[in-house]
Amino acid sequence: MYRSRLGNDLSDVTLDYVSSINDDSEIALYDILGSKAHTLMLYQKNIITKNDAKKILSALENLKKEKFDSSSGAEDIHELIESLIIKKAGMASGGKMHTARSRNDQVALDIRMKIRDDINIICNCLLDSIEALVSVAKNHQKTIMPLYTHLQQAQAGLFSHYLLAHADVLSRDFQRLYGTFERVNQSPLGAGPIGGTSIPIDRHSTAKMLGFDDLVENSIDATSTRDFVAEYVAMISILMTNLSRISEDFILWSTSEFSFIELADEFTSPSSVMPQKKNPDVLELTRGKTAEVIGNLTAILTTIKGLASGYGRDLQQIKSSIWATSKISISTLLILKSMLLTLKVNEKQMKKVTESSNLIALDIAEKLVQEGIPFRVTHKISGILVQLSHNSKKPISKLTLSEIKKSVIGTKVDPKIVSKIISSTTVVSSLKNRTSFGSSGYDEQKRMISDRIQKINNYRTAITNRENKINSSIENLEKQVKEIIQ
Ligand code: ARG
Repeated sequence: MYRSRLGNDLSDVTLDYVSSINDDSEIALYDILGSKAHTLMLYQKNIITKNDAKKILSALENLKKEKFDSSSGAEDIHELIESLIIKKAGMASGGKMHTARSRNDQVALDIRMKIRDDINIICNCLLDSIEALVSVAKNHQKTIMPLYTHLQQAQAGLFSHYLLAHADVLSRDFQRLYGTFERVNQSPLGAGPIGGTSIPIDRHSTAKMLGFDDLVENSIDATSTRDFVAEYVAMISILMTNLSRISEDFILWSTSEFSFIELADEFTSPSSVMPQKKNPDVLELTRGKTAEVIGNLTAILTTIKGLASGYGRDLQQIKSSIWATSKISISTLLILKSMLLTLKVNEKQMKKVTESSNLIALDIAEKLVQEGIPFRVTHKISGILVQLSHNSKKPISKLTLSEIKKSVIGTKVDPKIVSKIISSTTVVSSLKNRTSFGSSGYDEQKRMISDRIQKINNYRTAITNRENKINSSIENLEKQVKEIIQ
């Protein structure tokens, strides 16, 4: 449709090479909405007549039901929609729709509208997952487990504490995306190809009609930048990295060697040959798809980094990376939520493992500190106790007084005090005494759970308000369109 200056048409191979029509199905509805707002504004500013507006808007309204034909020969959805409008409304009116805009501001607009909706969807999914983590944590405030550093047993802990850690991680993902939305929800519409237009348009009015909070003011910036895309995909890459780490823990803990958890059958896969297998394929795919998202971020940044200012067709290629990124993160979160809610937790095994290792070593050292002994000395005593227990193949609690005496050699510490502390220290007592803010202590679980529930509620309200604001702008736009069409 645009090739008036050019001679020959594109060959099928070239057309297929340059066309983004297949990727554009994700933004078709946004393109129609943007065109409605633009047309309304052109009419309100007396740039086109009411009759023109009526014809264009009716044709746009009919397009909602249209099944776009990807073999139409159009290079993209913007060309296809405009050609359909001209066909339906006639050149005299339809030919005016593209006044004072360009595909460059148009495509930036559509991508921003798509990403802002995706952000809201993902934020809701995140809140559902956080809520699931907190609700499972609620049931496991007394479930003892070993905590690991270097994948070696470190301290006794609680399963609720582990789950709440991930609830906090995902809350930060929520906050990051919530912040990104502000930079996405700015309208580039009316920036033209790059330098603006001589036609007296009102960019503020179209921004408002489409529910944007602000404009990307500078028309060069508005049409050139994809920093908001890179930011969005970077935020999702961090989110996916976090989900991948949870997956790795669950993969490990569902092995027969750990047997801490069992995934519900619907999240596992059998083997084609080994009948006993119950593989955590879904979690492995989360790790794999995380790599794909990071690849998308790399593709986007690599596309942008060498691009001269102004729109370049390279930018067309990043759209599929955005859509794929959104899709992966949404499905991962939906699956994670259901997986959490159906997870079987092997409390006995977790406790057994915790109690069979000398995870109370640090607690014993800390109790000795409370007797006024320097920590460096108590650390040494406790270390010797662990060594004695290891060599004699019995737990610290079974060491005799004469064995305990060896641990205090060279110190002024009374072995009887050490012995008394050993016999009063268990995993349970250690978790009772763990009172520091944010620790694995029993009391801290209760406090953190109720605090997180409150936070989830506040986040929900914030997201709902945002969605309502966009929805009511779009409803209002559609109402104005209807008034003109009638
Ligand atoms: N199909 C293009 C894209 O997705 C739309 C913008 C084309 N603009 C241009 N001047 N060729 O990025």
